[in-house]
Amino acid sequence: MPQSEVECLRDEVLKLNRIGIALTSVHQLDQLLDLIVREARALTAADAGSLYLREGERLRFAVSQNDTLRQRLGEAGERALFSSFTLPINERSIAGFVASTRRNLNLADVYRLPAGVPFGFNPDFDRRNDYRTVSLLAVPMLDAEERVLGVLQLINATQHGQVIPFHERFEDLVRSLASQAAVAVRNAELTQELKRVHLDTIYRLSVAAEYRDHDTAMHVRRMSHYSAALARRLGYDARRVEQVLYASPMHDVGKIGIPDAILLKPGRLTPEEREVMQQHPEIGSRILSGSDSEILKLSEVVALTHHEKWDGTGYPRRLRGEDIPEVGRIVAVADVFDALSSKRVYKGAMGMDEALSILQKDAGTHFDPRCVSAFLDIRSEVADIAQRYRDPDVKTA
Ligand SMILES: [Fe+2]
Repeated sequence: MPQSEVECLRDEVLKLNRIGIALTSVHQLDQLLDLIVREARALTAADAGSLYLREGERLRFAVSQNDTLRQRLGEAGERALFSSFTLPINERSIAGFVASTRRNLNLADVYRLPAGVPFGFNPDFDRRNDYRTVSLLAVPMLDAEERVLGVLQLINATQHGQVIPFHERFEDLVRSLASQAAVAVRNAELTQELKRVHLDTIYRLSVAAEYRDHDTAMHVRRMSHYSAALARRLGYDARRVEQVLYASPMHDVGKIGIPDAILLKPGRLTPEEREVMQQHPEIGSRILSGSDSEILKLSEVVALTHHEKWDGTGYPRRLRGEDIPEVGRIVAVADVFDALSSKRVYKGAMGMDEALSILQKDAGTHFDPRCVSAFLDIRSEVADIAQRYRDPDVKTA
């Protein structure tokens, strides 16, 4: 093998290795799919590329990138062209053929297909967008068990501004990239599923702790989403926002230690009963303490501090101002807002405007003024959350 080819190969192996590392560091599925297409295009100097994901017996068109159209229309214009659709997995389409046979397809010109092939090229996209697809390389995305997870399709290899066919050596290279990508996709899907189950478990346990109380199952969902939205508005990064989302539903878990006679008492509590009731932050923080998990550590703080007040009149520790951990101040706003604006068995719901004006009135006494003003800034998001997680019809007593 000539030296130049050896170097070229070495270079490609190194690139592939780098891509593999990049793929394993992205856990958000949509970002990951985007990265796969971008890296495969960079590797082959392809003008465009797309990715189909398998859903049962169909392929869903999940990503589309196209440099020519981006230059012509801008990034927003390119995105606007994207519309998802599904294809059956059979040999009639290019992607379907690749998924059902697991073979690569390297076509020099999709408008001049070799005679006798079962698939055809669908020119709709080209026609609609005044684009000309010529060369195309499509490979299956196979996971470690050789299952087809999707199809990666690269379009129009370019050299010096000219469209050329994809070089044969790219076939194995892109196929192996697609398989690395398949493993990363499988992991991202698994992570997503684990997170979903985890959050669902947290909600269910939180509801179990509170169920004896008047709160409904939707209260914990709403207040955790309000808390996360507020944290985002205050500048928390995505990871921290997610931790707030997961930690905040457990704020009242300590109510599990409050006797029914007090927790469910319809009338006003006596001072002694109130004292017992006010132990729930400490009980909760004890339940949640001692874990190595970042989320549980945060939820311990939330449980302990969500009834502290900005002016130092809250409980259990009468912390004041910034001595109260910020996450406790965030959850205090979200929790009280939801209690005011949602219907409970013992009271009707207050309108959102009225609930917000109470927060505003109590900013600087009960609440951190910065949290209240950020909460007001996101009122339309708050309204969306309230609508999305609204209670099923609560019977008023
Ligand atoms: Fe509480």
